[in-house]
Amino acid sequence: MTDPMSTLADRLGGIAYGGDYNPEQWPEDVWHEDVRLMREAGVNLVTVGVFSWSRIEPRPGAYDWALLDTVIDLLHTAGVAVDLATPTAAPPPWFSKAYPRSLPLTASGTRLSHGSRQAFCPSSPDYARAADAVVGKLARRYADHPAVVMWHVHNEWGNHNALCYCDTSAAAFRTWLRDRYTTPARVNDVWGTDFWGQRYGDWEEIDPPRDTTAFRNPGQELDYRRFSSDALLARHRAESALLREASPGIPITTNLLGTLEKKVDGHAFARQSDIVSVDHYLVAADPGNHIDLALNADLARGMADGRPWLLMEHSTSAVNWQPVNVPKEPGEMRRNSLTHLARGADGILFFQWRQSRAGAEKWHSAMLPHGGTGTRTWGEVSSLGAELGAMSEVRGTRVQADVALLFDWHAWWALELEARPSQHLRYLDTVRDWYGALWDLGVTCDLVAPDTDLSRYRAVLAPSLYLVSDTDADALHSYVRGGGHAVLGPFSGAVDTHDRVRTGGYPGAFRDLLGLVVDEYLPLRQGESALLSDSSRALLWSERVASRGCTARLRFADGPDGGPARGGPAVTRHSYGGGVGWYAAAALPAQSLRDLLDAVCREAGAEPAAAVPPGIEAVRRRAGDRSYLFLVNHTDREVRIPVAGHTALDGSALPEYVSLPAGDVVVLRERAVPQQASLHREGAR
Ligand code: GAL
Repeated sequence: MTDPMSTLADRLGGIAYGGDYNPEQWPEDVWHEDVRLMREAGVNLVTVGVFSWSRIEPRPGAYDWALLDTVIDLLHTAGVAVDLATPTAAPPPWFSKAYPRSLPLTASGTRLSHGSRQAFCPSSPDYARAADAVVGKLARRYADHPAVVMWHVHNEWGNHNALCYCDTSAAAFRTWLRDRYTTPARVNDVWGTDFWGQRYGDWEEIDPPRDTTAFRNPGQELDYRRFSSDALLARHRAESALLREASPGIPITTNLLGTLEKKVDGHAFARQSDIVSVDHYLVAADPGNHIDLALNADLARGMADGRPWLLMEHSTSAVNWQPVNVPKEPGEMRRNSLTHLARGADGILFFQWRQSRAGAEKWHSAMLPHGGTGTRTWGEVSSLGAELGAMSEVRGTRVQADVALLFDWHAWWALELEARPSQHLRYLDTVRDWYGALWDLGVTCDLVAPDTDLSRYRAVLAPSLYLVSDTDADALHSYVRGGGHAVLGPFSGAVDTHDRVRTGGYPGAFRDLLGLVVDEYLPLRQGESALLSDSSRALLWSERVASRGCTARLRFADGPDGGPARGGPAVTRHSYGGGVGWYAAAALPAQSLRDLLDAVCREAGAEPAAAVPPGIEAVRRRAGDRSYLFLVNHTDREVRIPVAGHTALDGSALPEYVSLPAGDVVVLRERAVPQQASLHREGAR
């Protein structure tokens, strides 16, 4: 089957470029200027209608299409394609007044008011009915409009309203539990309700995990997160079904939030989308935010199963929702955009086209700033449009990663439940540390769900995969037995899918694979550290490991400086079947983590995309005999990179090296296709 993203790119005639277009905020004469400037900036795709419900249906059941009709026609005449959004992320005020019980209820029982967006309970039948009605009308009205090339379902599912604790949610939760567990007895079993005498005798006794006296039941809490994500997924599916029915050929997407959104299971939503789209925003205060960008791009590609994906939103400059909203440096927006492209995006879009003059986001940057076309941002936006237009040949190529990093929302939810060994060991922190080490090594990885087919990877990393199903744990064992290299991080494999401890010694799911047993987790106090045999110091976490066949590659130092696990193994290696299982029994400091992953990659034969100096990001996209090397200079000086034999996209030959100025990016068309990476079974480098 043809990939929907490539069909879309063909229709657009190149890489998608554009952003959210909210003409509702402006008078009609501005729309004409908008489309003229869109053409000038090389825009070929805009998302329309995201928050337009109160315009489309100003009174219950009374529809007014005048604005959308005019805008979509205008865009079409100008040759700008439309990603038409369902407006369901912003129910109109009349809806909330008519159905006050559809407003979300917090865990402490406060009913939220209308006045922002996503002010609805995910399980509200009134919301579902109203949303389906407007989506059905929208779908039928525009299904055959030649401008509409994609449907954009909702906006960032669950960003503001994923967890609702009202009585309607309680009833829906009971139904969800009944479908999954059949009897209350089974719920008692998986939630361990004999602890603190919480046994349920009847479905009606079960409520959402609302605020209570002390710790909530962790199984209930975990299932509530699953239920809540599923409730929104059901809405996503319902809207998608209506769109598909009206226009079978038009691809459907929804903008996901990657690691910015803990509350919904991104993999589940990605699997229900024809094209995977993500939004990404930099945290201005984070000096390593370009690494977070790369991580999220690699997660988007993982969610898209390696296929090209869309960057649906990022910012041209400052956002407005951080404590201090620092504008991007000159060139930073281009660097961000081309890094997403390097990592497999076939489209670069922004929130939003024209900067608002009123409303909650008037201080958020846009493609066309308050200052108009004389601004630095506009200059950068239009030159990026031209540059992407000239790079069309890159689209459709794919990033090939030798390494998979398992990323799982369920493990994230479970690891961060209340009452655990350390509040300071956080899922995303560990994932970021591990990803950062790999980024430093220049090795590209896909962030994938634990149930992904791992056979195409040379190495698999699982930083703190605290919760894992038996099936996924078995698959990782088979992968290693078959010759793969797996690296597990601290506090992995501790519990089953219900957050019940796997007894008999930690890490219960992986003792055999790793050839060890841990009898106690030994978290470190804040400010405390454990000296390691490579002279670095572990913070936060240590474990007492006893070997059952593994060998220690790094140890906690003997003596009191080594911390509570003094003298014991901190990093282990274990031959298992035809492969190797590695374990990090500590929250390793950056250098030790880099050394560990370097050793694993070398043994597994996972190579960097190119041999480049530190601070240079190198990623390759390829398809058939087309191959492109992206080089991004994150340093503050010009760097000479020895990549002989390449040609820049502008056609100039680069016989020996590339000189890349500080902050710059170059895309090289490679003359010869470098040796294709072989599977892990074929041996080490
Ligand atoms: C996104 C959202 C946009 C806009 C943007 C601002 O999360 O989808 O509508 O609010 O953030 O950064």
